[in-house]
Amino acid sequence: MVLQKGCGILHKLVINGGKKISGEIKLQGAKNSALPILAATVLVEGQTVIKNCPELTDIYVASRILTHLGCKVTRQEKETVVVSNNGITCGFISEKLMREMRSSIIFLGAVLGRCGECSLYFPGGCQLGPRPVDIHLSALRKMGIMISEEHGRINCTAPNGIKGAKIMLEFPSVGATENIILAAVKAEGETEIKNAAREPEIKDLVSYLVKCGAKIEFSSESTIRIKGVDRLDGCEHSVIPDRIAAATYLAAAAITDGAVCISGTSQLDASSFTGYFEHMGCSVYICNDKICLKGKNRILPVKSLKTMPYPGFATDMQAIIMSVLCKADGTSVFEENIFESRYKHVDALNMMGADIKVYGKIAVVQGVKKLYGANVEATDLRGGAAMTVAALAAEGTTEITCINHIDRGYEKIDTVLASLGADIKRKPEFQ
Ligand code: UD1
Repeated sequence: MVLQKGCGILHKLVINGGKKISGEIKLQGAKNSALPILAATVLVEGQTVIKNCPELTDIYVASRILTHLGCKVTRQEKETVVVSNNGITCGFISEKLMREMRSSIIFLGAVLGRCGECSLYFPGGCQLGPRPVDIHLSALRKMGIMISEEHGRINCTAPNGIKGAKIMLEFPSVGATENIILAAVKAEGETEIKNAAREPEIKDLVSYLVKCGAKIEFSSESTIRIKGVDRLDGCEHSVIPDRIAAATYLAAAAITDGAVCISGTSQLDASSFTGYFEHMGCSVYICNDKICLKGKNRILPVKSLKTMPYPGFATDMQAIIMSVLCKADGTSVFEENIFESRYKHVDALNMMGADIKVYGKIAVVQGVKKLYGANVEATDLRGGAAMTVAALAAEGTTEITCINHIDRGYEKIDTVLASLGADIKRKPEFQ
């Protein structure tokens, strides 16, 4: 895998729009599942075999953090990553590694759970507005962990061991829920998380940990109970499919009036996102391990799309669905309730001929008949994916730079889309 860093040595995507996206693909594993599971391997003894682990730059960063901590990480076949943990040698993660991705914060709970102490830096990641970790830290404090913060560094120790606690989250933060689970699985006593995040990726993390010997149960949809155990042993686990990538490829078919079948989706609750495409007038079929979508010549607008914690409309799908609705017959209205600055893709879509107006957390999308190719810059992971989707339906050529953002979450997006009939090429940025 080629790792791209910063914008200096990037590649760009060159897309000649107008081709229908049609055909069949196999879905990649979920980035947002694979990352916390990789972090969780810090807690287990011996070998973990992670199947369906996508080949992404974020996964590579997580592997480097694991190697730095003393684990051995190898990619055995295309989709399988093996982590051997014969003891962690270090409870410190450097600023450089931490800043490469937001989800590096998940290592906090894992390293604490293993070593009883951890020192790391505030994480990097997408520029979606402030991304504090106050909910993570206040929960960890309840578990007997002493935390000090200095110059962007977080130092944690548990002088009397990590203790189970009753924790009520003020917001069902995905990362905070994962960090608490990771800190609690080997803690003394029982931890209860109320108002926990309910995302499928949390359930996948729990399923991996339970296979390793953890005692975790969902006592209601949003309450998780964890009884600390002394030891966890490595196991084999297959990562769930990526629902955001699935929505992206469905969007590519919807906006081009194409027809796509995505296989490997049996473990997905497809109804949590296919409904939006049905509202747009697309036909969606779900059977066995496939989701298929057939586009509609004119896309129908969706009156109201409000991002919410799962099972609500996912913030990660907002930009992608917005691209499709740029071409709808009428007005669609979005409300972004999870992140403060998650409309950064709007300027690029408007440069491509879209008509989107943003009023704080509201975005009003007036459908247009045509989108046009333009030179745009990927602003963040899903924003970049949204530009790619729009470019497929645009008249003329679109060049998208800073695609390192897109490569964080999509396994070879250019190859996948080309296999579905897109005219898309990855080129060095200055060619
Ligand atoms: C995860 C996903 C990301 C998705 C997001 C929301 C991964 C690797 N990333 O990110 O793709 O967009 O869930 O579904 O799984 N917040 C606080 N204080 C905290 C923690 C969060 O104020 O301590 C706020 C955040 O600033 C944000 C909101 O809560 O506005 C949601 O954050 P959270 O659910 O924690 O998202 P992530 O885990 O970062």
